[in-house]
Amino acid sequence: MDKFLTDQFKKIITERTGLYLRTQDSEKLILAVNRRTEVLKLSSAAEYYRQLSDDSYSQISEWQELILMLTTAETFFFRDKGQFRLLREHIFPQIIEKHRHDRTLRLWSAGCSTGEELYSLAMLINESLPDWRRWNIFLLGTDINSSAIEKAKTGIYGDWSFRMVDPDIQKRYFKYKSGWVTDRRIREMATFRTGNLRLDRFPDPISQICDIDLILCRNVFIYFTSEAIAAVVEKFCATLVDGGFLMTGHNELHGHSFNNLKTLSFQASTIYQRIHAKRTENRASFQEPVSAQPTKFELSDTTPPASPNNRFTPHVIGEIVPDDAADTENEIEALYLKARSYANSGNLSQAISCCREIMTMKDFDINACYLLAYIMQEKGKPEAAKKYLKRIIYFNPAYTAAYVELASLYESEHDFKRAKKMWSAALDLLSQVSSDDLIAPYDQVRALTLTRHIQKELKKYI
Ligand SMILES: C[S@@+](CC[C@H](N)C(=O)[O-])C[C@H]1O[C@@H](n2cnc3c(N)ncnc32)[C@H](O)[C@@H]1O
Repeated sequence: MDKFLTDQFKKIITERTGLYLRTQDSEKLILAVNRRTEVLKLSSAAEYYRQLSDDSYSQISEWQELILMLTTAETFFFRDKGQFRLLREHIFPQIIEKHRHDRTLRLWSAGCSTGEELYSLAMLINESLPDWRRWNIFLLGTDINSSAIEKAKTGIYGDWSFRMVDPDIQKRYFKYKSGWVTDRRIREMATFRTGNLRLDRFPDPISQICDIDLILCRNVFIYFTSEAIAAVVEKFCATLVDGGFLMTGHNELHGHSFNNLKTLSFQASTIYQRIHAKRTENRASFQEPVSAQPTKFELSDTTPPASPNNRFTPHVIGEIVPDDAADTENEIEALYLKARSYANSGNLSQAISCCREIMTMKDFDINACYLLAYIMQEKGKPEAAKKYLKRIIYFNPAYTAAYVELASLYESEHDFKRAKKMWSAALDLLSQVSSDDLIAPYDQVRALTLTRHIQKELKKYI
C-alpha cells in the first residue's frame, strides 16, 4: 500500500472514529487493511478504501472490525484504584446526596470495552448505596467494539480481568462456572450498547444518553486527535447534568480547556465538573474544588529515589551480620505490605514513601520496584513506569509480569513493534514453567491463563 493510500486511510479513520494514527502506526494500519481486504475478498486495498468511504454502503460492522485491529480493548476491574477511591469517597457521596429526593442515578462508561469498568461502578453503588434497589439507576456502557460489548453483556470473565482486584471483592461478586460469572444483581444494573463517540449524536434522550451524573471515559482519548477529543468532550458537557462529573484517564485532557467544565484536582486524579454555561464568564469566582490537596511528596520521574546505596553498584555482602539481615528482611516485608495496602486504597504518596524507604535498605527490591511501576501507571506517568519495569528486567530477566506490563504500555502508545517483542518474551518465559504455576505478583493468575491472554494479544499481529 503506497503512502498516499495509507494517508487516505488515516484521514478517513480519524474523521469517522477520532482515532489518531501516527507515522509509527502505519505498519499496523497496513497489516489491518490487508487483512480486511483479504477477508472481504476484495481485489485491492484501494477497493477496501472505496467501500469504507461509501456512506450508502452499510459499513458499521466493518468499521468495528477495523477499529478492533487498531485499538486495544485492555481493561480490568477497578482499574486505577486511586480513581475508584476518589469516586467512592468524594464523588459518589455528592451525587447520592444531590439525588436523595428524586432517587435517580445515571452513570455512563464511555469506551467501556468488555465491561469491567461499568461493573466496577455497579459494585461501588452496591457498597455506597445499600438501598439502591429503591432507586432508579441507569448504568450505561458503550463501545465501538461490538464483540467487546457482547462479552460485557455475558458478564463472564477470566482470571486476567481480576489481576489487580482484592480477592474479597472477587469472592463477593463472582462465582466460578467455567469462567467468573458476575453476580446477577450487578449484571442486571448494567446496560451495554455499541456506540461511536466520534460520530454518534449525544445528548440523545431517545437512547437515554442525557442528564448523566457521571461519565467515565478513561483510556479512550489516548488514541484520539486533539480535535476529536475537543468535539467529544463538548458533547459530554452537553450530556451531563449541571454539576455532573467527567472522569478521563490521567492527563488525557492535558492542554485542553472547556468553558463548561471546572477542573477539580485531587491527589489521586483530576476530575471535571460541569458548570452552568452562564457562569463560565466568571470562572475565577467559582468555589474551590471540594478538595485540592497537592501531592506532598512525588517521586521524581527521572531521578531514582535517593538512597545511601547506589542501587546499581553491587551490595557489599558481609556488611550486615546474619541477624541484622533477617531483621532487615522482615522490616522490608512489613514496609512492602504497608505500601501495597496504601496503593490498594489509592493513597499513592504514602505507598511511594514506603517503597522509597525499602530502596534505602536494599539495592534492588523486585516487589517495591514493581509496585512503583504500577503506581506510576496509575499516576499517568508511563515513562517512569517503563523505567521501573526495565529495571526489573535488568535485575531479574525472568520476571514475566514486567514484560506483560511493558507490552501493555507499548500497546497503549501504539508502539506495536516493542509491544510484540515484550508479549513474545513473556510467552517464552511462560513456556518454561508449569501451566499451574501462579505468576507473581498477580494474586490469582496462573501461567495457563496468562499464556492464553498473550496468545490472543499476539494474534492481532499475525
Ligand atoms: C483501552 S480500552 C479502555 C477501557 C476502559 N475504559 C478502561 O479504562 O479500562 C479503550 C476502548 O475505547 C474504545 N474506543 C476507541 N475509539 C472509540 C470510539 N470512537 N467510540 C467508542 N469507543 C471507542 C475501544 O474499542 C476500546 O475498547
